[in-house]
Amino acid sequence: MERIEKSVFIKNNSNTFRKWAKWYDLTSFILLFLRKKVADLVDSRQGKLLDVACGTGAQTIEFARKGLTVTGIDLSRDMLKIARKKMRHAKNVKLLRADSEKLPFRNRSFDVSCISLALHDMPYSVGLNTLHEMKRVTKESGLIIIVDYTKPALFPVAYFSRCLVKLWESEYYDDFMKTGIEAYLHQAELNVEREVHYLLRTIKVITSVNRS
Ligand SMILES: C[S@@+](CC[C@H](N)C(=O)[O-])C[C@H]1O[C@@H](n2cnc3c(N)ncnc32)[C@H](O)[C@@H]1O
Repeated sequence: MERIEKSVFIKNNSNTFRKWAKWYDLTSFILLFLRKKVADLVDSRQGKLLDVACGTGAQTIEFARKGLTVTGIDLSRDMLKIARKKMRHAKNVKLLRADSEKLPFRNRSFDVSCISLALHDMPYSVGLNTLHEMKRVTKESGLIIIVDYTKPALFPVAYFSRCLVKLWESEYYDDFMKTGIEAYLHQAELNVEREVHYLLRTIKVITSVNRS
């Protein structure tokens, strides 16, 4: 991605999530069951977890409740502000402002890494670099969890869910859906160990074991 495009993306992201930050958690009850399912994929003995593009920490907090040592990173100051407020008493959570394309961590420093509902908010190249970075910072044989939209097989569900979701999603959502999450996994050489669909197959939770 050109330097100029990257700066435009960062500005867009900041503007989009400045508007969204205070409303984002209002819908969190709809996804609470999903957050818990995702947290249950991880054993609390698995130690250190990185939540990439953690936003307001809706998923981060569920990992933290399991007793894991969690680091959440995000680009948006406004989303992080909410996350910090929610988790101010959690001693096992660290929240940092960082770019997922350049994670400020050493190779293989986490047992598990997760990116939830964020790949569709990035241009393709940023998403791919993010997955490569997650592979780099996750230990060999560590778990990589990816949660995002997918295209339901049934045409009416696919059509109406896409029209509905487009009402609030960012400008990158359409391209993300056209590309499909499978293309990201293939390009980033992430093998799928397990995948489970939720919400009429509109959301997919993928677990991959880091083989790099
Ligand atoms: C829809 S929110 C999802 C937040 C959270 N993961 C969840 O499950 O609710 C998408 C988040 O991705 C973040 N994001 C987008 N691009 C990013 C990047 N390159 N680096 C870090 N965060 C990024 C945004 O700032 C936003 O907070």
